[in-house]
Amino acid sequence: MADKDGLKIAKDYHVSEPFANMGGSYIKGAAGLDWGMRKHLSHIFDPKSGNTVMFAFDHGYFMGSTAGLERLDIVVPKLMPYIDCLMGTRGALRTCIPAENRKAVALRVSSGSSMLNDDLSHEVVAVDIEDAIRMNADCMAVQTFIGADGQLQSLDNLSRVINAGFKYSIPTLGVVAVGKDMERTDRYFKLATRIIAEMGVQMVKTYYCDNFEEVVAACPVPIVVAGGKKLPEAEALTMAYRSIQGGARGLDMGRNIFQSDHAVEMAQAIGKIVHEGFTDKEALEFYQDAIH
Ligand code: 5RP
Repeated sequence: MADKDGLKIAKDYHVSEPFANMGGSYIKGAAGLDWGMRKHLSHIFDPKSGNTVMFAFDHGYFMGSTAGLERLDIVVPKLMPYIDCLMGTRGALRTCIPAENRKAVALRVSSGSSMLNDDLSHEVVAVDIEDAIRMNADCMAVQTFIGADGQLQSLDNLSRVINAGFKYSIPTLGVVAVGKDMERTDRYFKLATRIIAEMGVQMVKTYYCDNFEEVVAACPVPIVVAGGKKLPEAEALTMAYRSIQGGARGLDMGRNIFQSDHAVEMAQAIGKIVHEGFTDKEALEFYQDAIH
């Protein structure tokens, strides 16, 4: 293990140079994967745009009934025509979402905290690979807490899921958690996303930040961007646009969609940015026209 002395600051990200090892796949880092893995990833990432609109409604796994998600059975089906991938818990999916749907599934498999805890960084692998197979999951989502008290446990969780995922050809989505003490800087996100990618995930979820294109360049698998707390729609669309422009292969928004007064139109506007090359201003115009 290299020592920490004399660390030089990484700086050559070659952000204008495309990833060099696509190997005939349109998905970054998939060249070395087998057919089944690549098939699952193609369910998540649209072959034309290479991107995905992932709708996150897994908040209940530690937040309970979240504002805007009080009735999963009502809220989620309304949005399904406008998103590519459902990110939810097995409990939410099985009870509230009709199985007869053609959407990709990002299955939340880690758990262990609740809003009653100060430290949310101690999780376990709560869903085994057999149930991920039963649910035809296209990826398994594991929260990782780099720099937090629960770091080692979360990386052990991640490794177990990655190992099982390789065994049964189901991709793993490594989720970068940002606790109250964790800095939302490119320095932190470069560290966290690269650790997770080197652990062997097939995709990473993180947050938008300054120098985001360097975070993307340093990460050898696709990055999707979480929305974070509810923003005014214009700001959320700008964040989405900047994420895609910075090289993200999609958005995984939850609160910025389900807490919007016009969730359907917001999902549609995000889709315009993700799949149709809209700018944030064009998407905002679309949104404003759609709600009036
Ligand atoms: C909740 C999650 C969510 O999937 C992720 O944070 C995206 O949701 P939002 O856009 O509301 O942040 O991991 O624990």
